[in-house]
Amino acid sequence: MSKTITFVVQPGGKLHGQARVPGDKSMSHRSIMLGSIAEGVTHVKGFLQAEDALATLQAFRDMGVVIEGPANGEVTIHGVGKHGLKAPTKPLYLGNSGTSMRLLSGLLAGQAFDSILTGDKSLSGRPMKRVTAPLAEMGAVIEATANGTAPLHIKSQAGRLKGIDYQMPIASAQVKSCLLLAGMYAEGDTSTTEPAPTRDHTERMLAGFGYPVKREGSKATINANGKLHAAEIDVPSDISSAAFFLVGASIAEGSDVLLKHVGINPTRTGVIDILRLMGAHIEILNERVVGGEPVADLHVLARPLKGIDIPEALVPLAIDEFPVLFVAAACATGQTRLSGAKELRVKESDRIQVMADGLQILGVDARPTEDGMIINSSPIGGGEVISHGDHRIAMAFAIAGLRANGAITIHDCENVNTSFPEFKDIASQLGLRLVCREN
Ligand code: S3P
Repeated sequence: MSKTITFVVQPGGKLHGQARVPGDKSMSHRSIMLGSIAEGVTHVKGFLQAEDALATLQAFRDMGVVIEGPANGEVTIHGVGKHGLKAPTKPLYLGNSGTSMRLLSGLLAGQAFDSILTGDKSLSGRPMKRVTAPLAEMGAVIEATANGTAPLHIKSQAGRLKGIDYQMPIASAQVKSCLLLAGMYAEGDTSTTEPAPTRDHTERMLAGFGYPVKREGSKATINANGKLHAAEIDVPSDISSAAFFLVGASIAEGSDVLLKHVGINPTRTGVIDILRLMGAHIEILNERVVGGEPVADLHVLARPLKGIDIPEALVPLAIDEFPVLFVAAACATGQTRLSGAKELRVKESDRIQVMADGLQILGVDARPTEDGMIINSSPIGGGEVISHGDHRIAMAFAIAGLRANGAITIHDCENVNTSFPEFKDIASQLGLRLVCREN
């Protein structure tokens, strides 16, 4: 039996001090993918040494790419060029990582070999039609289960993909990125138009590798006539990991936290905007651009929060931060309402249901809706909650401990290792009274 991890958080306390949270997950995945098919040797600093990004790294090793590291966040990738990947000898196992599976399905559709993509139980239940359907329009041949889920059997269509002009029905950076990567192997132009802005790390990093991508408003266009040139990549801290401390420091009276070197790409800063609308005090200091991505230090002081109607336009820009934002909402005066966030139901868990269940166990007035949640200001009690194998649910409930009036036990926290293995150490250093039990 593999080990289980339980978090136990003693109630109260505050957060104080400085921290540098680990590297951005989205950029870490993309650095391996693009570095592998670039020409020359790519050096990455700040790489996220956590299970999801390591799954991508292993997949490229399985396709013959020599990758040194990671050691202290440094990775050296000996790029094989756009057509240099080799047929894997076994299915590529991508663990819990939706980003790995969706982006790889696009990148692999036009290769000169077949491949199979598999994942854990959660990933094997997540919708893949959102990528396999537009890829099929491009001429890709991908077999999934009858439900449209993994494993994905990708049949080589080398030289047979054709560009499409795709109006994306959902705001998804993974779908956009998948199609742009497939477009690098397709005849003619491949365009994606997104219904609302989503994270644009793929477009920025392609440009950093010297690969032409045309961007006009919500439309991005690529074709096969480019080459990737090895690059130096400096991955900033992940704002999605910083978010736990942005909320924790905001809700725990007397807190004062400085989060260093955080990526503040405007397609990712919805959490700051939402918290500020709720009355949070977050200063953006020492803004700079590192490797084509904006970076800053974030200074947070505790403030009383108030409930708001979360603007729907901010939803895709804070999509991974809602579990912990729901905790902020419980601590805010009045009512907080989220709508237009149906996507939360198909993340690593159904984040609307799982958060509502856990908050209710802790005595919070949280009512799930089809596409969001209504939360009324409530005292947070102690109790036992289940993360359902979802890293961000586990960390969100740990942060709730700062305002709880009893201990919170969180079961099933192994998957914190998919995005933030250092969470318990950094959280404890800052003042969270967190104990981690391994069985
Ligand atoms: C990601 C995009 C988002 C996000 C995920 C990472 C990416 O998913 O939730 O954690 O790296 O492109 P969607 O694009 O499906 O919203």
